[in-house]
Amino acid sequence: MKRFLIVFLLLLSFVVTDAREGMWIPALLDKYNIEEMQQMGFKLSADDVYSINHNSMKDAVVLFGSGCTGELVSHDGLLLTNHHCGYSSIQSHSSVEHDYLTDGFWAASREQELSNPGLKVRFLDRMNDVTDSVLAGTEGLKNEAFEGKIKDNIKTIEEAASFNGKYEAVVKPLFYGNQYFVYVYKVFKDIRLVGAPPSSIGKFGGDTDNWMWPRHTGDFSVFRVYADKNNEPAEYSPDNVPYHPKSFFPISLKGISPDDFIMVFGFPGKTEEYLPSEAVDLVMNQRDPERVGIRTQKLEILARHMASDPKVRIQYASKYAGTSNSWKRWQGEVRGLKQMDALSGKQSFEDLFRQWYEKDDSLTSLYGNIFPQFKKLYADLAPYSRAYDYYNEIVFRGTDIFSLVNTFSFLADKENEKQLEKLRDDLTKRVREFFKDYDRSTDEEVFVRLMRLIQANLDPLFLPFDFQKIMRSYDDEGLLNKIYRKSVFSDEGKMENIAKGMDEKEFRKLQHDPLMVFYNDLLGHYQRNIGGIYFDLQEEIGEVQKDYMAGIMSMRKGELIYPDANLTLRVAYGKVGGYKPADGIIYRYQTTISGIMGKDNPEIYDYHVPEKLHELYNKKDYGIYTGRQDELPVAFIASVHTTGGNSGSPAINASGELVGINFDRCWEGTMSDIMFDPDHCRNIMVDIRYVLFVIDKFAGAGYLLNEMNLID
Ligand code: ARG
Ligand code: GLU
Repeated sequence: MKRFLIVFLLLLSFVVTDAREGMWIPALLDKYNIEEMQQMGFKLSADDVYSINHNSMKDAVVLFGSGCTGELVSHDGLLLTNHHCGYSSIQSHSSVEHDYLTDGFWAASREQELSNPGLKVRFLDRMNDVTDSVLAGTEGLKNEAFEGKIKDNIKTIEEAASFNGKYEAVVKPLFYGNQYFVYVYKVFKDIRLVGAPPSSIGKFGGDTDNWMWPRHTGDFSVFRVYADKNNEPAEYSPDNVPYHPKSFFPISLKGISPDDFIMVFGFPGKTEEYLPSEAVDLVMNQRDPERVGIRTQKLEILARHMASDPKVRIQYASKYAGTSNSWKRWQGEVRGLKQMDALSGKQSFEDLFRQWYEKDDSLTSLYGNIFPQFKKLYADLAPYSRAYDYYNEIVFRGTDIFSLVNTFSFLADKENEKQLEKLRDDLTKRVREFFKDYDRSTDEEVFVRLMRLIQANLDPLFLPFDFQKIMRSYDDEGLLNKIYRKSVFSDEGKMENIAKGMDEKEFRKLQHDPLMVFYNDLLGHYQRNIGGIYFDLQEEIGEVQKDYMAGIMSMRKGELIYPDANLTLRVAYGKVGGYKPADGIIYRYQTTISGIMGKDNPEIYDYHVPEKLHELYNKKDYGIYTGRQDELPVAFIASVHTTGGNSGSPAINASGELVGINFDRCWEGTMSDIMFDPDHCRNIMVDIRYVLFVIDKFAGAGYLLNEMNLID
């Protein structure tokens, strides 16, 4: 019965496409979605969202850094994104004396805005379907010849579209290579920090509330894009001036109500909605639980050291948040997939697919081999995937010290080993950056714990012989004394001197450093016995997945079907509304400041409400930012399909005005990267009125509002 029900539900959801699921290509809205969006309340046209002939909404949305979204809100390049997206920038300007993480930061004038070397934002100039050009001349080619030709074609397209470096052009596959688009960006490199609330607002609830509703986080920060005198991108210079964007968002003070249309316009990073059951099985029963297990160990150590030393708390704030974020999401993902009975759901869909192709011999010859291939490939992959996860979590991103060792180990690959002198400045800079956020006793403990974990849990075949011998010969203290403490890598002074004087001789000497030897042994073993095979298998799986995707598209011809997210600009839409997280519980669509006060607990760092917020609350001094019943709104949820990368995305109302900033998803819906459940998947946004209230009333930076276009 259950199985029958699932088939029925699947059929239903494929026939009556629930468009709340989906991340759509802005350049193709007119073809598919716009009617539905308008039925749901949207008052604008596809052309207002995306156009290459005139200014449109897309000109006000940027890829912020390498994995967030931001939106322009003034003629002078003022940009909003999340606090957690600006977090590493805010942290990099912070010290125990100037603790902007704890106290917040507000530039009182443009001169005080802080530059962030390395931070870039990308404006999309245009996107085009280039499938035909990418596939030109590939007829009849197979395997490497086919891949080679595609690579050449892509290079030619990217070169032509970049106009001699004026733009950054990237060709990306959609639907696993059944379609290709070129994305042409203008890249701005002088991005300055304008303001950030204290973490007690911007990260209120911390990792405890992360991925949860009801939520009370003011997760926003403010930056400004700078350009040269011709309004073109330029490297940082004090002579640069605020950039005048082609378009920026008006901000609505009207607020939102249940069932209101909401569109989220941004850069979702990665979804995998079309995986076979074997892949889902691997994720939920092996990969997620194991990665969670490894990170639990590391987080426990970091948390303890951070709690006992304020310097360590700042040094490891960003690292901790990054590690814990996926750690928590993976747990939610497993939970959600289980609740949805995702495996049966996938298998039922596979039955439908099989029935579909079996009706026709030519379809059977195209698709009949897909499931047996998946079965074999995923069985082959499982042990390599495990080894890959262990190396990735432990060796490549587990301990701090290995990342520094890797920086120097990497030089050996360089052709220009003879020109090491040229790298001195860069290396010195990297050494300084490394030690700014490094605490030796914390990292030593992480090192020992993680090395013991990989030793105990990974099949010895996947571990180098010498490594195993060393691990067996020493106890924890001995391991530290023989390897970690005997190395120069944990000595800031020595490392700086080595970097400054880097030449062939220094480099050769470093090759005998105990940590370098230890690391290179692991790295070499990984390269010879794991990485290559793992990625070859993934490539083979990718080819089968491409055929599977083509089959799904053919089976569902005429229906709306969206490509998985790939960190390119997408439109997603839904409606404001709460949900039922469990039997007997209903979640409202909105939270307010009284909920912040309810969570207040001065004993707990994450729930420490700042004094000033108490004062404003006690006086009900909310200015013009109140909602119904004169309450101050904080966050709200909607049924929009979003994922990592959508952080900082504008949440837009039916009239194209900014009503919120997207920053998270609800716990019961965190499996939406793999399977979307319209009943439980909700995205979380900070209400723009709370953002304005914090800037104006809390921070006293109301002058920033003068450059915005506020609509009452
Ligand atoms: N879960 C959100 C996202 O995936 C916010 C993460 C930042 N906040 C935190 N407490 N670590 O990025
Ligand atoms: N916090 C996520 C981000 O940084 C967005 C939440 C999600 O994954 O949907 O992009």
